[in-house]
Amino acid sequence: MIKTILVTGGTGYIGSHTVLDLIKNGYRVVILDDFSNSSPKVLEQLEKLAGESISLYNVDLKDAKQVEAVFAAEEIDAVINFAGYKAVGESVEQPLKYYENNLIGLINLVKAMQEFAVKKLIFSSSATVYGQPEIMPLKESDPIGNVTNPYGRTKLIIEEILTDICAANEDFGVVTLRYFNPLGADESGEIGEDPNGIPNNLAPYITQVAIGKLEKLSVFGGDYPTEDGTCIRDYVHVADLAAGHTKALDYLFQDNQGYEIFNLGSGVGYSVYQIIDNFEKVVGRPIPYQVVGRRAGDIPVSYAAIDKAKAVLNWSPTKDIGIMCADTWRWQQKHPNGFQD
Ligand code: UD1
Repeated sequence: MIKTILVTGGTGYIGSHTVLDLIKNGYRVVILDDFSNSSPKVLEQLEKLAGESISLYNVDLKDAKQVEAVFAAEEIDAVINFAGYKAVGESVEQPLKYYENNLIGLINLVKAMQEFAVKKLIFSSSATVYGQPEIMPLKESDPIGNVTNPYGRTKLIIEEILTDICAANEDFGVVTLRYFNPLGADESGEIGEDPNGIPNNLAPYITQVAIGKLEKLSVFGGDYPTEDGTCIRDYVHVADLAAGHTKALDYLFQDNQGYEIFNLGSGVGYSVYQIIDNFEKVVGRPIPYQVVGRRAGDIPVSYAAIDKAKAVLNWSPTKDIGIMCADTWRWQQKHPNGFQD
C-alpha cells in the first residue's frame, strides 16, 4: 500500500526538497501551504522534477476548520510539519506573530491528527534550541533552553508540547529533527532557497553578492575565540536533510511510538571565512566582504553529534561542503531572482 504523507510548508526551502525525496522513495505527498513565504511556482517545478502531479491545499494552519477539511478529504498516514515562520530578526520585532502562527498552527494540526487517528508526526526543529552551549559537539541529550529569540522559543515550546502529547498518548509517534545550517539546492538547480528581500542567512547573502545583486558581505565578527576569529557552524546539504525525513518516516512506520529527537547536521564545523573560500572556488572570483561587529545572539561555535541519526535512522550526510556551495551557486545562476525567473 502506498502511504500518503501530509507535508505542511511543502513549498518552502527544506519542505520542497523533502517532497521530492519522498516521491522518489515511493510515498504519495499531499502539500498544505498558504504560500505566505513561498511561491506557487515551487509546485510547478516540483511536478516537473517528480514527473507527476502533486495535490496541494492552499490552507493556513491557523484555520482549524480548513485543516480538518484536508484530513477529511485525504487518507493521511503521517504528517511532516515544516510550516512556520523562521526569520530570527522579525521574531524579535513581532513576537506575537511568531507565537500565534507557529504554536496555533501546530496545535490545530495535532488536534486534526487526533480527530482522524493519524499518529505519526515529524517536526522541524533547530539547533537553536540548544541556546548558548559551550561543549561541542551537541548531543540530543544536552540541555535545551536559554534561546536568544522568539523564533527559537517557538521551537523549544513545540518540542515540549510534543513531549507532553506523547506522554499522554501511548500510540503516538513523534520524531523531532533538529537541523543545523541547511545549505545547497537540488542538483537540477530548479528549486532552492528563495529568501524574501535581503537575506539574513550567510549562504544566500554570499551568492547574491557573487551574482552582483548585493555589493559585499558583512562578516559578523572577526574576534571570536576560534582559529580564524569567525563563527563556526555545521552546514548540511538540504538534500541530505530531506533524506533524513524519509528515513525518519521509515522509522515511524516500523511502528516506533513515543518521542524521539535526532540532530541532522554534517558533524563538521566550518568558519565564515572557510565558507567564503569554498564559494570563491565554485564562483571563480573573489567574494567582496568586510568584517563588522558581532551580530546579537550569535554563538561562537555550533556543530552536531550525528551518531544517533546514523545508528537509529541509518542516515548519513553524503554531500560535502564543495557540493553544497556548487549546488547553491547553480540554483542562484539559473534563477537570479529566485522563483520569479
Ligand atoms: C540562524 C538562526 C537559527 C536558524 C537558522 C536558519 C540565530 C542565533 N540562529 O542560524 O535559529 O535556525 O539561522 O537557517 O539567529 N553571517 C555573517 N554575515 C551574514 C550572515 C551570517 O557573517 O550576512 C555569519 C553569522 O554570524 C554566523 C554564520 O554566518 O556565524 C551563519 O549565520 P546564519 O546563516 O544566519 O545562520 P545561524 O545564525 O547559524
